[in-house]
Amino acid sequence: MKIIEKISEMKNLIRSWKEKKLRIALVPTMGYLHEGHLSLVRKAKALGDKTVVSIFVNPLQFGPKEDFREYPRDLERDKALLEKEGVDTVFVPLAEEMYPSNFQTYVEVTQLTQGLCGAFRPGHFKGVTTVVLKLFNIIEPDWAIFGEKDYQQLKVIQQMVKDLNLEVKIIGCPTVREKDGLAMSSRNTYLSSEERISALSLYKALNLAEELIKRGEKESKEIKKKLKELISSFPYTQVQYIELVDPETLEPVEKVEKPILCALAVWVGKTRLIDNKIISP
Ligand code: PAF
Repeated sequence: MKIIEKISEMKNLIRSWKEKKLRIALVPTMGYLHEGHLSLVRKAKALGDKTVVSIFVNPLQFGPKEDFREYPRDLERDKALLEKEGVDTVFVPLAEEMYPSNFQTYVEVTQLTQGLCGAFRPGHFKGVTTVVLKLFNIIEPDWAIFGEKDYQQLKVIQQMVKDLNLEVKIIGCPTVREKDGLAMSSRNTYLSSEERISALSLYKALNLAEELIKRGEKESKEIKKKLKELISSFPYTQVQYIELVDPETLEPVEKVEKPILCALAVWVGKTRLIDNKIISP
């Protein structure tokens, strides 16, 4: 398995693969890999002749008060996990090369980024789309694989690819959960053992939403109220948002008459967790 830091070196390798007509699948990550990432890697391996995993904690997508500095990092462990999966190349670019001091070009998806996480993390998706476009330009993948846990991110990237006529095919993969249902996230490592119990409130709330909708509840307002009560009954929690939205436009839905996306962001202590589920009436 090759570890590449330099953009020019990565581009040379890609050129040699393209000359041999090899097809490339990319898994962009910020490292501190868990089973969720590894499920994306397995999907990539099944699709492409060559698999590239990028590891880059992208400073551009963190707000000034967010956890860029604390974000967990363990490159040695990540490399060992990827080696075991049979990944061809790990691309670990340096921030100085990705964003030299005169960097001044950004890409922004304007509408899909307004609600949900976008409303609370100004500039976040602009940072995501900018780095993902740079990775696409460096690696020229035929496929790029993303987790559905970051559902809004997946939609925003699909929109960018469509709007900018990129060739890459975007593949979404289902959220991988711990045995008890907690969605896997690198940020789960921040949770104390008491907070870990409260973190399960997101999964429980999504299940409650499904149960209410299956029982015939149509009013978003009612559903959101009940979910908020459930989450708030767990210590250390602070709901940031509970939304029922159209899964394509991400616009809020008042009455549940077709499949909706129920999306949550909850602070558990100092850790912000998100989760979501598509629910059909
Ligand atoms: O989902 C992530 O880990 C990041 O947002 C991504 C897509 C790697 C861009 O930095």
